[in-house]
Amino acid sequence: MPEIVLLAIESSCDDTSAAVCIDGKVVSNLTANQKIHQDYGGVVPELASREHTKNIIPVVAEALKKAGVQASDLNAVAFTRGPGLMGSLLVGGMFAKSYAQALNIPLIDVHHMQAHVLAHFIDEPKPSFPFLCLTVSGGHTQIVLVKDYLDMEIVGETLDDAAGEAFDKTAKLLQLPYPGGPLIDKLAQTGNPHAFTFSEPQIEGLNFSFSGLKTNILYFLQKQTAQNPDFIETYKADICASVQHSIIQVLMKKLKRAAQEYGIREVAIAGGVSANSGLRSHLQQYGEKYHWNTYIPAFQYCTDNAGMIAITAYFKYLRGEFCPIDIPIQARWVM
Ligand code: KG4
Ligand code: ZN
Repeated sequence: MPEIVLLAIESSCDDTSAAVCIDGKVVSNLTANQKIHQDYGGVVPELASREHTKNIIPVVAEALKKAGVQASDLNAVAFTRGPGLMGSLLVGGMFAKSYAQALNIPLIDVHHMQAHVLAHFIDEPKPSFPFLCLTVSGGHTQIVLVKDYLDMEIVGETLDDAAGEAFDKTAKLLQLPYPGGPLIDKLAQTGNPHAFTFSEPQIEGLNFSFSGLKTNILYFLQKQTAQNPDFIETYKADICASVQHSIIQVLMKKLKRAAQEYGIREVAIAGGVSANSGLRSHLQQYGEKYHWNTYIPAFQYCTDNAGMIAITAYFKYLRGEFCPIDIPIQARWVM
């Protein structure tokens, strides 16, 4: 049986990642994280693209080495075409195009959010179709009805901020470095999730809104610190636990509603925020209560990674879905 060997590149935001996939198995997945954004409270696009240009060649070389494959073994090169930051996407995209052209092999364009969902097909257990996937990242919050590998429908999404943004913006208010999500998660573990309550957004249907929560938290902190300048330092863990709890409640309520409306008991989470320990345990609890089969990717496949790009490319390769070398990058790309 001939092997299908794919190289995949992910560079949509601030992580430079390369992976190799052989016959649908991700055999290497390497990511260079950019520390440069820590002090800015968010990703600085220009700095991100510059870091990608520094990282991309060593990361690809390492991914190939770790997989034990040569460039000449590759059958195709895949890359994240969008959505994401234009300058960041251009670095990975132009690298993938040049590599494919130099090797005279096909190019595969991958949708970043579709890839987050398909991260569930890297390891066991794999969900069966149709399933629902709550995809929560720094830029997106979506409930996706997944009918087949490459057949997905967004049934609910945020009308303003993403869940990851709610974590990151809260962290900024607490003077924590970017990305704040993992730090809030850590601090929340020693805090009381019911110490403070924040008003819940009242959004119809399966859509979300997080901008009101952000304002609510800002006013709450301003009021409290006016009375007690040490409020944040004294109650940091409780604040983190309470904010995290509020975000999780919003997400889980809509996910439960989607499961009821579609009569689906295969329920997954994906994207950077699916690394959150509170969200992971809530999904498990809901699963036990409502008899869902639940799916959570391994940590390395929750946040941005090329492994998920590689597995998506594998399904596209099997269908012969290649793209022309002059395909444009698409910073905004509806799934
Ligand atoms: O999917 P991802 O790596 O990049 C995007 O496509 O946006 O998601 C990044 C987001 C950031 O907002 C980060 O704070 C959040 O995922 N995140 C977390 C955790 N780990 C990453 N949020 C909460 N808890 C975590 N453990
Ligand atoms: Zn992502």
